[in-house]
Amino acid sequence: MSSTETESTNLDDFGLFDPAVQQCPHAYYAKMRSEQPLFPADRGDTEVLIVTRHQDVVDLVLDAKSFSSHFDLSGIPVSKELIDRMRALYKEKKGYPRVHTMLTADQPEHTRYRKLVNKAFTPRAINGLAPEIRRIASNLADGVEGGPVNFVEAFAVPLPMTAIARALNVPDDRLIDFKRWSDDAIAGIGTDISDDRRVEAESSVIEFQHYFAEQLEARRSDPSDDILSNLLNARIDKSDGDLGDEALTMSEMLSIIQQLLVAGNETTTKVLTETIRLLAEHPDQWQQLRDDPSRARQVAEEAIRLSTPTQGMYRVATADTRIGDFDVTKGTSVIAMFASANRDEQVFNDPNTFNPDREGLTNHIAFGKGIHYCLGANLARLELVTALEELSGRYSSVSLTENNNFPYDASFMLRGLQHLEVVFETAP
Ligand code: HEM
Repeated sequence: MSSTETESTNLDDFGLFDPAVQQCPHAYYAKMRSEQPLFPADRGDTEVLIVTRHQDVVDLVLDAKSFSSHFDLSGIPVSKELIDRMRALYKEKKGYPRVHTMLTADQPEHTRYRKLVNKAFTPRAINGLAPEIRRIASNLADGVEGGPVNFVEAFAVPLPMTAIARALNVPDDRLIDFKRWSDDAIAGIGTDISDDRRVEAESSVIEFQHYFAEQLEARRSDPSDDILSNLLNARIDKSDGDLGDEALTMSEMLSIIQQLLVAGNETTTKVLTETIRLLAEHPDQWQQLRDDPSRARQVAEEAIRLSTPTQGMYRVATADTRIGDFDVTKGTSVIAMFASANRDEQVFNDPNTFNPDREGLTNHIAFGKGIHYCLGANLARLELVTALEELSGRYSSVSLTENNNFPYDASFMLRGLQHLEVVFETAP
């Protein structure tokens, strides 16, 4: 993206749900940062303020008291008719009530959830997954040899999906269901889909609930050393202060497991895909990675910054307050636009350039900051680094075919490439 592109961009053309805008929103964000750092966008029912500067986004997410995370994940207004259809569906299929945990919970409830889930998602549990992630990545890397492949389907979707399925002990014969549940759990996030599709997706989420409810129940009498058993047995001890010591309810556990799919799969898929696009466009970086595999971590980090798949997350002002130089009234919805913050020229030199050797590489906030800082950041990094090691260790080059028009999702919350055709080659 050039500065001329930013100059010629007209903010009147910006639409939160406009697929053409989401195809490449960065020139808009750059213009917002310089001209209207709190940009009022139309959300259909109300206006929402997009917060675009790095410092403002950091201040906003660190102030969890003035800005609540309690919002509907779909991110767009829903009709009363749809709410009634959903209620009827939950009644008919005996779905577990939706509860706000972690991502969409505020303190003090958030603290209780996070402490309990931290006990299940320990570094030991994550490190324990490393050999399995290596095995999955190695098999997938073998599979992309030869002719052109759609990298999304062949590698970027199955790696995080299979990794989390293994972590939750989903057997191989249920992996296809698990993929469908994961897809349906995120189907409507930050994007405008039909009511019928929303109901269909929710029906699949209820199926997912029944499967995991059964698995959790089974572990009550027959515990194993996995995340499900850890969730079931997680208690807060007295040293954790006055947070109550109740175990998680079934609805809470199901909501948490669902969040692992929603927050973990697509995001990692999108970064993996963008990383390969960037490396295919920068063959010198691929060669450097081959020469020195320890560069995988910094390559992954720079690709995370540039792709920032969780483009933006909602917050709601709980009181009259300020963001940067501007007043914000109680009840105002704002979007912390991480994707914009991560290309703020005040923080990153030449921000649109892929430069794994840049100074201040880790100043990006693609995993958020503060109390909602990504629970799966270490898992995502482990998957990305392992994938890069396996692929660059095997193939002398990766290149884009001519069949790429680089289609990005039309979601302002979860953005990434839908398709990427590449060829991996081994030197003769
Ligand atoms: C590169 C991949 C990923 C990116 C870019 C990413 C990004 C984010 C961001 C920006 C947040 C903060 C949201 C907010 O402030 O409102 C977040 C939270 C979260 N992420 Fe990730 N994530 C990734 C991978 C994962 C993985 C692999 C998992 C788990 C398997 C995961 C689970 C979560 C959960 C549960 C939260 C909510 C934490 C809380 O509210 O306390 N994420 N993630």
